[in-house]
Amino acid sequence: MTTINTITILGSGVMGHGIAQVASTAGYNIVLRDIEQTLLENAMNKIKWSLGKLVEKQKISQDDANSVYGRITPVVDLKKALQDSDLLIEAVPEDLELKKKVYAEVEKYVEDKTLYASNTSTLPIGELASLTSRPSRFIGLHFFNPPQLMPLVEVIPSRFTDNDTVSIALDLIKKMGKDPVLCKKDVVGFIVNRIFIPLVHEAAYCLERDNAKMTQIDSAVKFKMAAPMGIFELADYTGLDVIHKASNEMASRDKRVINPNPLIERLFSKKKFGQKSGTGFYDYSGEDKYGRIKLSETEAEQYEPITLVAIVANNAAWLLSNGVCDRNDLDKALRLGMGFKKSPFTLAEEFGLKRVVSTLENLSNKYGEFYEPDILLKKMSLG
Ligand code: 3HC
Repeated sequence: MTTINTITILGSGVMGHGIAQVASTAGYNIVLRDIEQTLLENAMNKIKWSLGKLVEKQKISQDDANSVYGRITPVVDLKKALQDSDLLIEAVPEDLELKKKVYAEVEKYVEDKTLYASNTSTLPIGELASLTSRPSRFIGLHFFNPPQLMPLVEVIPSRFTDNDTVSIALDLIKKMGKDPVLCKKDVVGFIVNRIFIPLVHEAAYCLERDNAKMTQIDSAVKFKMAAPMGIFELADYTGLDVIHKASNEMASRDKRVINPNPLIERLFSKKKFGQKSGTGFYDYSGEDKYGRIKLSETEAEQYEPITLVAIVANNAAWLLSNGVCDRNDLDKALRLGMGFKKSPFTLAEEFGLKRVVSTLENLSNKYGEFYEPDILLKKMSLG
Protein backbone atom coordinates (compact mmCIF):
# COMPACT_ATOMS: atom_id res chain seq x y z
CA MET A 1 0.00 0.00 0.00
CA THR A 2 1.19 3.53 -0.81
CA THR A 3 2.63 5.49 2.10
CA ILE A 4 1.78 9.16 2.00
CA ASN A 5 4.59 11.54 2.94
CA THR A 6 4.37 14.39 0.49
CA ILE A 7 1.12 15.95 -0.65
CA THR A 8 0.79 18.43 -3.51
CA ILE A 9 -2.17 20.76 -3.33
CA LEU A 10 -3.16 22.34 -6.63
CA GLY A 11 -4.85 25.69 -6.04
CA SER A 12 -4.21 27.96 -3.06
CA GLY A 13 -7.64 29.55 -2.75
CA VAL A 14 -10.05 29.33 0.18
CA MET A 15 -10.01 25.54 0.19
CA GLY A 16 -6.50 24.84 -1.10
CA HIS A 17 -4.69 26.87 1.53
CA GLY A 18 -6.92 25.50 4.30
CA ILE A 19 -6.31 21.90 3.23
CA ALA A 20 -2.58 22.62 3.06
CA GLN A 21 -2.65 23.87 6.64
CA VAL A 22 -4.67 20.88 7.90
CA ALA A 23 -2.46 18.34 6.13
CA SER A 24 0.71 20.05 7.32
CA THR A 25 -0.65 20.05 10.87
CA ALA A 26 -0.93 16.26 10.56
CA GLY A 27 2.80 16.15 9.77
CA TYR A 28 2.76 15.73 5.98
CA ASN A 29 5.13 17.68 3.76
CA ILE A 30 3.07 20.00 1.65
CA VAL A 31 3.69 21.60 -1.71
CA LEU A 32 1.14 24.31 -2.34
CA ARG A 33 0.93 25.15 -6.01
CA ASP A 34 -0.74 28.05 -7.78
CA ILE A 35 -0.23 29.86 -11.05
CA GLU A 36 1.09 33.13 -9.60
CA GLN A 37 3.44 34.02 -6.78
CA THR A 38 1.05 36.70 -5.46
CA LEU A 39 -1.72 34.13 -5.05
CA LEU A 40 0.65 31.97 -3.04
CA GLU A 41 1.75 34.90 -0.90
CA ASN A 42 -1.86 35.69 -0.17
CA ALA A 43 -2.49 32.04 0.74
CA MET A 44 0.56 31.87 3.02
CA ASN A 45 -0.64 35.04 4.78
CA LYS A 46 -4.02 33.45 5.38
CA ILE A 47 -2.35 30.36 6.79
CA LYS A 48 -0.30 32.59 9.08
CA TRP A 49 -3.46 34.37 10.21
CA SER A 50 -5.27 31.10 10.89
CA LEU A 51 -2.33 29.58 12.77
CA GLY A 52 -2.12 32.80 14.79
CA LYS A 53 -5.79 32.39 15.77
CA LEU A 54 -5.18 28.79 16.83
CA VAL A 55 -2.17 29.85 18.93
CA GLU A 56 -4.22 32.69 20.47
CA LYS A 57 -6.86 30.14 21.47
CA GLN A 58 -4.17 27.78 22.79
CA LYS A 59 -5.18 25.05 20.35
CA ILE A 60 -1.55 24.74 19.23
CA SER A 61 1.75 26.12 20.50
CA GLN A 62 3.71 28.83 18.67
CA ASP A 63 6.46 26.26 17.98
CA ASP A 64 3.97 23.90 16.37
CA ALA A 65 2.49 26.76 14.34
CA ASN A 66 5.98 27.57 13.06
CA SER A 67 6.57 23.93 12.08
CA VAL A 68 3.21 23.69 10.32
CA TYR A 69 3.99 26.85 8.37
CA GLY A 70 7.51 25.62 7.62
CA ARG A 71 6.31 22.30 6.17
CA ILE A 72 4.34 24.12 3.45
CA THR A 73 6.36 25.01 0.34
CA PRO A 74 4.67 27.42 -2.07
CA VAL A 75 5.56 26.62 -5.68
CA VAL A 76 4.51 28.01 -9.07
CA ASP A 77 6.32 25.51 -11.31
CA LEU A 78 3.98 22.54 -11.79
CA LYS A 79 6.73 20.07 -12.69
CA LYS A 80 8.57 20.91 -9.48
CA ALA A 81 5.33 20.81 -7.50
CA LEU A 82 4.65 17.23 -8.58
CA GLN A 83 8.15 15.89 -7.94
CA ASP A 84 8.11 12.97 -5.51
CA SER A 85 4.47 13.60 -4.66
CA ASP A 86 2.55 10.68 -3.11
CA LEU A 87 -0.81 12.37 -3.42
CA LEU A 88 -2.12 15.36 -5.26
CA ILE A 89 -5.24 17.11 -4.09
CA GLU A 90 -6.75 19.28 -6.78
CA ALA A 91 -8.55 22.33 -5.37
CA VAL A 92 -8.79 24.64 -8.38
CA PRO A 93 -12.01 26.60 -9.13
CA GLU A 94 -15.11 24.62 -9.90
CA ASP A 95 -15.05 24.86 -13.66
CA LEU A 96 -14.83 21.68 -15.72
CA GLU A 97 -12.97 23.32 -18.60
CA LEU A 98 -10.33 24.65 -16.21
CA LYS A 99 -10.03 21.29 -14.46
CA LYS A 100 -9.60 19.56 -17.83
CA LYS A 101 -6.66 21.86 -18.58
CA VAL A 102 -5.14 21.28 -15.16
CA TYR A 103 -5.37 17.49 -15.37
CA ALA A 104 -3.95 17.49 -18.91
CA GLU A 105 -0.95 19.47 -17.67
CA VAL A 106 -0.57 17.29 -14.57
CA GLU A 107 -0.43 14.18 -16.75
CA LYS A 108 2.79 15.48 -18.32
CA TYR A 109 4.73 15.56 -15.06
CA VAL A 110 3.02 13.30 -12.55
CA GLU A 111 4.97 10.33 -11.17
CA ASP A 112 3.65 6.78 -11.36
CA LYS A 113 3.24 6.46 -7.61
CA THR A 114 1.06 9.59 -7.20
CA LEU A 115 -2.56 9.13 -6.15
CA TYR A 116 -5.15 11.66 -7.31
CA ALA A 117 -7.79 13.34 -5.21
CA SER A 118 -10.11 16.18 -6.06
CA ASN A 119 -11.71 18.58 -3.63
CA THR A 120 -14.41 19.28 -6.19
CA SER A 121 -17.56 20.40 -4.45
CA THR A 122 -20.01 19.21 -7.06
CA LEU A 123 -18.52 17.53 -10.12
CA PRO A 124 -18.95 13.78 -10.48
CA ILE A 125 -15.69 12.09 -9.49
CA GLY A 126 -15.96 9.53 -12.30
CA GLU A 127 -16.04 12.34 -14.84
CA LEU A 128 -12.83 13.89 -13.43
CA ALA A 129 -11.14 10.50 -13.01
CA SER A 130 -11.73 9.83 -16.70
CA LEU A 131 -9.60 12.87 -17.53
CA THR A 132 -6.56 11.12 -16.08
CA SER A 133 -4.44 8.07 -16.82
CA ARG A 134 -5.35 6.39 -13.51
CA PRO A 135 -9.09 6.47 -12.78
CA SER A 136 -8.78 3.58 -10.32
CA ARG A 137 -6.36 5.66 -8.18
CA PHE A 138 -8.59 8.74 -8.17
CA ILE A 139 -10.97 9.72 -5.37
CA GLY A 140 -13.06 12.67 -4.19
CA LEU A 141 -11.98 14.27 -0.90
CA HIS A 142 -14.37 17.09 -0.24
CA PHE A 143 -13.38 19.40 2.62
CA PHE A 144 -15.56 22.15 4.08
CA ASN A 145 -14.90 25.80 4.55
CA PRO A 146 -13.00 26.64 6.68
CA PRO A 147 -11.08 23.35 6.46
CA GLN A 148 -9.12 24.37 9.56
CA LEU A 149 -12.30 24.26 11.67
CA MET A 150 -14.82 22.01 9.92
CA PRO A 151 -14.32 18.37 10.95
CA LEU A 152 -16.03 16.75 7.95
CA VAL A 153 -14.50 15.36 4.79
CA GLU A 154 -16.77 13.63 2.28
CA VAL A 155 -14.91 10.70 0.72
CA ILE A 156 -16.34 9.91 -2.70
CA PRO A 157 -15.12 6.91 -4.68
CA SER A 158 -16.25 6.77 -8.30
CA ARG A 159 -17.24 3.60 -10.12
CA PHE A 160 -13.55 3.26 -11.10
CA THR A 161 -11.89 3.78 -7.69
CA ASP A 162 -10.15 0.67 -6.29
CA ASN A 163 -10.55 -0.46 -2.67
CA ASP A 164 -6.92 0.34 -1.80
CA THR A 165 -7.40 3.97 -2.74
CA VAL A 166 -10.56 4.17 -0.62
CA SER A 167 -8.70 2.70 2.39
CA ILE A 168 -5.73 5.05 1.93
CA ALA A 169 -8.09 8.02 1.68
CA LEU A 170 -10.08 7.10 4.79
CA ASP A 171 -6.88 6.54 6.74
CA LEU A 172 -5.39 9.84 5.56
CA ILE A 173 -8.48 11.83 6.55
CA LYS A 174 -8.44 10.27 10.03
CA LYS A 175 -4.72 11.06 10.37
CA MET A 176 -5.59 14.66 9.54
CA GLY A 177 -7.88 14.60 12.58
CA LYS A 178 -10.99 14.84 10.40
CA ASP A 179 -14.12 12.76 10.34
CA PRO A 180 -14.80 11.06 6.99
CA VAL A 181 -18.27 10.28 5.66
CA LEU A 182 -18.34 7.88 2.74
CA CYS A 183 -20.62 9.11 -0.02
CA LYS A 184 -21.89 5.88 -1.54
CA LYS A 185 -22.98 7.32 -4.86
CA ASP A 186 -21.10 9.73 -7.07
CA VAL A 187 -24.01 12.17 -7.42
CA VAL A 188 -23.70 15.89 -8.19
CA GLY A 189 -23.20 17.89 -5.00
CA PHE A 190 -22.55 14.69 -3.01
CA ILE A 191 -24.26 14.98 0.40
CA VAL A 192 -23.77 18.44 1.88
CA ASN A 193 -23.83 20.56 -1.26
CA ARG A 194 -27.00 18.81 -2.36
CA ILE A 195 -28.51 20.57 0.65
CA PHE A 196 -26.41 23.74 0.87
CA ILE A 197 -26.31 25.09 -2.70
CA PRO A 198 -30.07 24.82 -3.44
CA LEU A 199 -30.71 26.40 -0.04
CA VAL A 200 -28.81 29.56 -1.02
CA HIS A 201 -30.93 29.91 -4.18
CA GLU A 202 -34.11 29.27 -2.25
CA ALA A 203 -33.26 31.82 0.42
CA ALA A 204 -32.82 34.37 -2.37
CA TYR A 205 -36.34 33.49 -3.64
CA CYS A 206 -37.67 33.97 -0.10
CA LEU A 207 -36.41 37.58 -0.14
CA GLU A 208 -38.83 38.46 -2.95
CA ARG A 209 -41.63 35.98 -2.42
CA ASP A 210 -41.95 36.63 1.30
CA ASN A 211 -40.87 40.25 1.16
CA ALA A 212 -38.38 39.53 3.94
CA LYS A 213 -35.12 41.19 4.89
CA MET A 214 -31.85 39.34 4.58
CA THR A 215 -31.08 39.63 8.27
CA GLN A 216 -34.58 38.35 9.15
CA ILE A 217 -34.10 35.23 7.01
CA ASP A 218 -30.56 34.75 8.28
CA SER A 219 -31.60 35.21 11.90
CA ALA A 220 -34.35 32.65 11.41
CA VAL A 221 -31.88 30.20 9.83
CA LYS A 222 -29.52 30.65 12.75
CA PHE A 223 -31.98 30.66 15.63
CA LYS A 224 -34.91 28.59 14.31
CA MET A 225 -33.01 26.10 12.15
CA ALA A 226 -30.13 25.65 14.59
CA ALA A 227 -27.43 26.64 12.09
CA PRO A 228 -24.21 28.42 13.16
CA MET A 229 -24.56 31.14 10.49
CA GLY A 230 -27.28 32.68 8.37
CA ILE A 231 -27.51 31.27 4.86
CA PHE A 232 -26.64 34.54 3.07
CA GLU A 233 -23.83 35.02 5.55
CA LEU A 234 -22.58 31.52 4.81
CA ALA A 235 -22.84 32.09 1.05
CA ASP A 236 -20.75 35.26 1.36
CA TYR A 237 -18.31 33.42 3.57
CA THR A 238 -18.02 30.49 1.14
CA GLY A 239 -17.72 32.86 -1.83
CA LEU A 240 -20.39 33.61 -4.42
CA ASP A 241 -17.89 32.77 -7.16
CA VAL A 242 -17.66 29.26 -5.68
CA ILE A 243 -21.42 29.00 -5.31
CA HIS A 244 -22.07 30.34 -8.79
CA LYS A 245 -19.74 27.82 -10.41
CA ALA A 246 -20.99 24.95 -8.27
CA SER A 247 -24.61 25.88 -9.09
CA ASN A 248 -23.96 25.93 -12.83
CA GLU A 249 -22.16 22.61 -12.78
CA MET A 250 -24.89 21.02 -10.68
CA ALA A 251 -27.74 22.42 -12.77
CA SER A 252 -26.10 21.38 -16.03
CA ARG A 253 -26.08 17.77 -14.88
CA ASP A 254 -29.42 17.52 -13.14
CA LYS A 255 -32.09 20.18 -13.71
CA ARG A 256 -34.04 19.05 -10.66
CA VAL A 257 -31.22 19.58 -8.20
CA ILE A 258 -31.34 23.35 -8.21
CA ASN A 259 -33.80 26.14 -8.94
CA PRO A 260 -31.32 28.81 -10.08
CA ASN A 261 -32.03 32.27 -8.69
CA PRO A 262 -30.93 35.10 -11.02
CA LEU A 263 -29.68 37.10 -8.03
CA ILE A 264 -26.69 34.74 -7.70
CA GLU A 265 -25.84 35.31 -11.38
CA ARG A 266 -26.22 39.08 -10.90
CA LEU A 267 -23.95 39.22 -7.86
CA PHE A 268 -21.39 37.03 -9.61
CA SER A 269 -21.35 39.14 -12.77
CA LYS A 270 -20.79 42.27 -10.66
CA LYS A 271 -17.88 40.47 -8.97
CA LYS A 272 -19.68 40.65 -5.63
CA PHE A 273 -18.19 37.43 -4.33
CA GLY A 274 -18.85 37.97 -0.62
CA GLN A 275 -16.27 38.52 2.09
CA LYS A 276 -13.30 38.03 -0.21
CA SER A 277 -14.34 40.92 -2.49
CA GLY A 278 -15.79 43.20 0.19
CA THR A 279 -19.45 42.78 -0.91
CA GLY A 280 -21.81 39.98 -1.71
CA PHE A 281 -25.26 39.65 -0.22
CA TYR A 282 -23.89 41.88 2.55
CA ASP A 283 -21.35 44.66 2.64
CA TYR A 284 -18.03 43.95 4.37
CA SER A 285 -16.26 47.23 3.86
CA GLY A 286 -13.90 47.82 6.72
CA GLU A 287 -13.93 44.13 7.67
CA ASP A 288 -10.62 42.34 7.71
CA LYS A 289 -10.54 38.72 6.51
CA TYR A 290 -13.24 37.42 8.81
CA GLY A 291 -16.41 39.36 9.53
CA ARG A 292 -19.70 38.21 10.99
CA ILE A 293 -23.18 39.63 10.41
CA LYS A 294 -25.22 40.77 13.39
CA LEU A 295 -28.18 38.41 13.68
CA SER A 296 -30.72 38.36 16.49
CA GLU A 297 -33.50 36.30 18.01
CA THR A 298 -35.78 39.35 17.70
CA GLU A 299 -35.34 39.35 13.92
CA ALA A 300 -35.67 35.57 13.85
CA GLU A 301 -39.16 36.00 15.35
CA GLN A 302 -40.11 38.14 12.35
CA TYR A 303 -39.62 35.35 9.80
CA GLU A 304 -40.97 31.79 9.53
CA PRO A 305 -38.42 29.71 7.54
CA ILE A 306 -40.85 26.92 6.59
CA THR A 307 -39.83 26.97 2.91
CA LEU A 308 -36.16 26.62 3.82
CA VAL A 309 -36.90 23.79 6.25
CA ALA A 310 -38.94 22.10 3.50
CA ILE A 311 -36.15 22.43 0.92
CA VAL A 312 -33.57 21.01 3.31
CA ALA A 313 -35.83 18.10 4.31
CA ASN A 314 -36.74 17.36 0.69
CA ASN A 315 -33.13 17.18 -0.49
CA ALA A 316 -32.21 15.15 2.59
CA ALA A 317 -35.00 12.71 1.73
CA TRP A 318 -33.74 12.53 -1.88
CA LEU A 319 -30.29 11.50 -0.62
CA LEU A 320 -31.76 8.69 1.46
CA SER A 321 -34.22 7.56 -1.23
CA ASN A 322 -31.38 7.33 -3.73
CA GLY A 323 -29.02 5.38 -1.48
CA VAL A 324 -26.36 8.11 -1.34
CA CYS A 325 -26.08 7.77 2.43
CA ASP A 326 -28.06 6.56 5.41
CA ARG A 327 -29.71 8.82 7.95
CA ASN A 328 -26.85 8.61 10.45
CA ASP A 329 -24.28 9.68 7.87
CA LEU A 330 -26.57 12.40 6.58
CA ASP A 331 -27.01 13.88 10.06
CA LYS A 332 -23.29 13.53 10.74
CA ALA A 333 -22.36 15.21 7.44
CA LEU A 334 -24.63 18.19 8.09
CA ARG A 335 -23.53 18.47 11.72
CA LEU A 336 -19.80 18.33 10.95
CA GLY A 337 -19.82 19.97 7.50
CA MET A 338 -22.23 22.83 8.12
CA GLY A 339 -22.51 22.93 11.89
CA PHE A 340 -26.26 22.11 11.83
CA LYS A 341 -27.18 21.29 15.39
CA LYS A 342 -30.34 19.42 14.38
CA SER A 343 -31.06 16.64 11.93
CA PRO A 344 -33.11 17.93 8.95
CA PHE A 345 -35.81 15.40 9.78
CA THR A 346 -35.99 16.46 13.43
CA LEU A 347 -36.35 20.02 12.19
CA ALA A 348 -39.07 18.98 9.72
CA GLU A 349 -40.89 17.14 12.51
CA GLU A 350 -40.71 20.23 14.73
CA PHE A 351 -42.17 22.41 11.97
CA GLY A 352 -44.69 19.63 11.15
CA LEU A 353 -44.06 17.03 8.45
CA LYS A 354 -47.52 17.51 6.95
CA ARG A 355 -46.93 21.25 6.77
CA VAL A 356 -43.52 20.69 5.18
CA VAL A 357 -45.04 18.44 2.50
CA SER A 358 -47.96 20.78 1.81
CA THR A 359 -45.51 23.72 1.52
CA LEU A 360 -43.60 21.76 -1.13
CA GLU A 361 -46.80 20.80 -2.94
CA ASN A 362 -47.96 24.42 -3.08
CA LEU A 363 -44.57 25.54 -4.35
CA SER A 364 -44.46 22.80 -6.98
CA ASN A 365 -47.94 23.81 -8.22
CA LYS A 366 -46.73 27.37 -8.61
CA TYR A 367 -43.09 26.98 -9.63
CA GLY A 368 -42.61 23.49 -11.02
CA GLU A 369 -41.09 20.10 -10.41
CA PHE A 370 -38.03 21.23 -8.44
CA TYR A 371 -40.31 21.47 -5.41
CA GLU A 372 -42.09 18.11 -5.76
CA PRO A 373 -41.90 16.33 -2.40
CA ASP A 374 -39.73 13.23 -2.34
CA ILE A 375 -41.60 9.98 -1.89
CA LEU A 376 -39.82 9.26 1.40
CA LEU A 377 -40.84 12.61 2.85
CA LYS A 378 -44.43 11.98 1.82
CA LYS A 379 -44.34 8.58 3.52
CA MET A 380 -42.87 10.11 6.66
CA SER A 381 -45.61 12.72 6.75
CA LEU A 382 -48.24 9.98 6.75
CA GLY A 383 -46.73 8.69 9.99
N1 3HC B 1 -8.74 29.42 11.22
C1 3HC B 1 -8.65 29.69 12.55
N2 3HC B 1 -9.59 30.35 13.24
C2 3HC B 1 -10.67 30.79 12.55
C3 3HC B 1 -10.84 30.54 11.17
C4 3HC B 1 -9.81 29.83 10.50
N3 3HC B 1 -9.86 29.57 9.19
N4 3HC B 1 -12.01 31.08 10.77
C5 3HC B 1 -12.56 31.63 11.86
N5 3HC B 1 -11.76 31.48 12.92
C6 3HC B 1 -11.95 31.97 14.28
C7 3HC B 1 -12.64 33.32 14.31
O1 3HC B 1 -11.78 34.37 14.00
C8 3HC B 1 -13.13 33.36 15.74
O2 3HC B 1 -12.10 33.84 16.54
P1 3HC B 1 -12.37 35.00 17.64
O3 3HC B 1 -13.18 34.29 18.69
O4 3HC B 1 -11.00 35.37 18.10
O5 3HC B 1 -13.09 36.10 16.96
C9 3HC B 1 -13.37 31.87 16.08
O6 3HC B 1 -12.80 31.11 15.00
C10 3HC B 1 -14.82 31.48 16.19
O7 3HC B 1 -15.53 32.07 15.17
P2 3HC B 1 -16.92 32.74 15.43
O8 3HC B 1 -16.90 33.62 16.61
O9 3HC B 1 -17.37 33.37 14.16
O10 3HC B 1 -17.82 31.54 15.93
P3 3HC B 1 -18.56 30.31 15.33
O11 3HC B 1 -18.82 29.50 16.53
O12 3HC B 1 -19.74 30.68 14.49
O13 3HC B 1 -17.54 29.45 14.42
C11 3HC B 1 -17.55 28.69 12.14
C12 3HC B 1 -17.20 29.80 13.10
C13 3HC B 1 -16.81 27.41 12.50
C14 3HC B 1 -17.13 29.14 10.75
C15 3HC B 1 -19.09 28.42 12.25
O14 3HC B 1 -19.81 29.61 12.10
C16 3HC B 1 -19.61 27.43 11.23
O15 3HC B 1 -19.54 26.23 11.40
N6 3HC B 1 -20.22 27.95 10.14
C17 3HC B 1 -20.73 27.14 9.06
C18 3HC B 1 -19.65 26.88 8.09
C19 3HC B 1 -20.11 25.97 6.97
O16 3HC B 1 -21.25 25.63 6.83
N7 3HC B 1 -19.15 25.56 6.13
C20 3HC B 1 -19.45 24.74 5.00
C21 3HC B 1 -19.81 25.56 3.81
S1 3HC B 1 -20.15 24.57 2.41
C22 3HC B 1 -18.65 24.15 1.84
O17 3HC B 1 -17.63 24.52 2.33
C23 3HC B 1 -18.64 23.25 0.67
C24 3HC B 1 -18.08 23.92 -0.53
O18 3HC B 1 -17.86 22.89 -1.48
C25 3HC B 1 -19.00 24.96 -1.14
